[in-house]
Amino acid sequence: MTIEEKSRKTLAELGVADAAAVPALFAELREAMQREREELIARGAGSEAERQQLAKALRDRWLGRKNGILAYLDESWLKSAPKDLKPVVGREFNQLRQLARELEIDRLIRDLTIRLEESPSVKGGIVKSVGGAIPWDAKVNVRIGASLTLPGYRRPLGSIHPVTRVQREIEDIFLNLGFTIETGPEIESVYYNFDALNILENHPSRDDWDTIYVDAQTVLRSHTSPVQIRAMQKRGAPLYIIAPGKSYRRDNPDATHSPMFHQLEGLAIDTDITFADLKGTLDFFAKKFFGEKVRTRFNPSFFPFTEPSGEVAVSCPFCDGQGCRRCKQSGWIELLGCGMVHPEVLRHGGIDPERYSGWAFGLGIDRFAMVKYDINDIQLFFQGDVRFLEQF
Ligand code: PHE
Repeated sequence: MTIEEKSRKTLAELGVADAAAVPALFAELREAMQREREELIARGAGSEAERQQLAKALRDRWLGRKNGILAYLDESWLKSAPKDLKPVVGREFNQLRQLARELEIDRLIRDLTIRLEESPSVKGGIVKSVGGAIPWDAKVNVRIGASLTLPGYRRPLGSIHPVTRVQREIEDIFLNLGFTIETGPEIESVYYNFDALNILENHPSRDDWDTIYVDAQTVLRSHTSPVQIRAMQKRGAPLYIIAPGKSYRRDNPDATHSPMFHQLEGLAIDTDITFADLKGTLDFFAKKFFGEKVRTRFNPSFFPFTEPSGEVAVSCPFCDGQGCRRCKQSGWIELLGCGMVHPEVLRHGGIDPERYSGWAFGLGIDRFAMVKYDINDIQLFFQGDVRFLEQF
């Protein structure tokens, strides 16, 4: 009995009354479907029109709305299955349907085209390989795995995650300015995360409602600033570094918060570094990242490890500062925190504050990516949903 004939009979007519017999029935169909697809691809098609025609014929045979094999299976196997067979038939049928997506016309044409591009030319039953003509044996093509002359299946390559993409973009700007990339541990001591950064004993960020503690002396770093101290101790001055990486805070996940997020720290230490260097560098950076026409705004702020401290905003690159949805009608987008490195912090890093001065900044990479790509929910970055990721 052919597959079409079987697909037009009910399970009862086929003598299947037992759930255990169902998988074998479907396995046969899957194999047939795969074999027909592989045969088609192995056969190849010389012209666009021929590819269209062959793809459509195979697709219609299996997926045709009225007379396709799957349509018949739906009627005569699934819909009319006795109650106790329904779950297994449903499950198997779904699997088959999944597999049948490979028979959609555009996929078949893609596979036929890939074969055409990758394989040596296919003409008149002869596959011409680089080394000369090899007879194209139909039997070999049926057992596709056995033929070394056939191309492999192309797997989707994936794409670079938007957070990584933005991180690299920021890194490139600072690498071009002569900065180097520094890293530090994500499991960090209280000393590096707080003490050495002049964050006093009673500072609220030390609270275990804000910071994730591993034990009394160890935290998941709540920012990338501890890398400042580690770099100073390791390399001394002068020092020009950026430190990208994961940071952790005890935040409940919502559209703008994630207990794990990404920061990028910047630090410049040298003789005669002033606030003007900080302003100039960050203005240059903002223009490189958002476009030459943006302006930067510095507002006073406070961080225990910088004095004075500032917050930087950039004129909205999307409306030119006029006010739009993306800048919440304000004309400005908050970018980062920064300031002149506190002398106490230099001392902890083993650098003489009488001789050297420096500036530092810290920014949220995820936030930059959200602004850049107009993404309104930070959670999308960490859910691994391919429909989201493949847009980048
Ligand atoms: N560490 C600060 C934060 O996480 C950012 C910052 C870094 C501010 C360096 C000033 C200088 O909010």
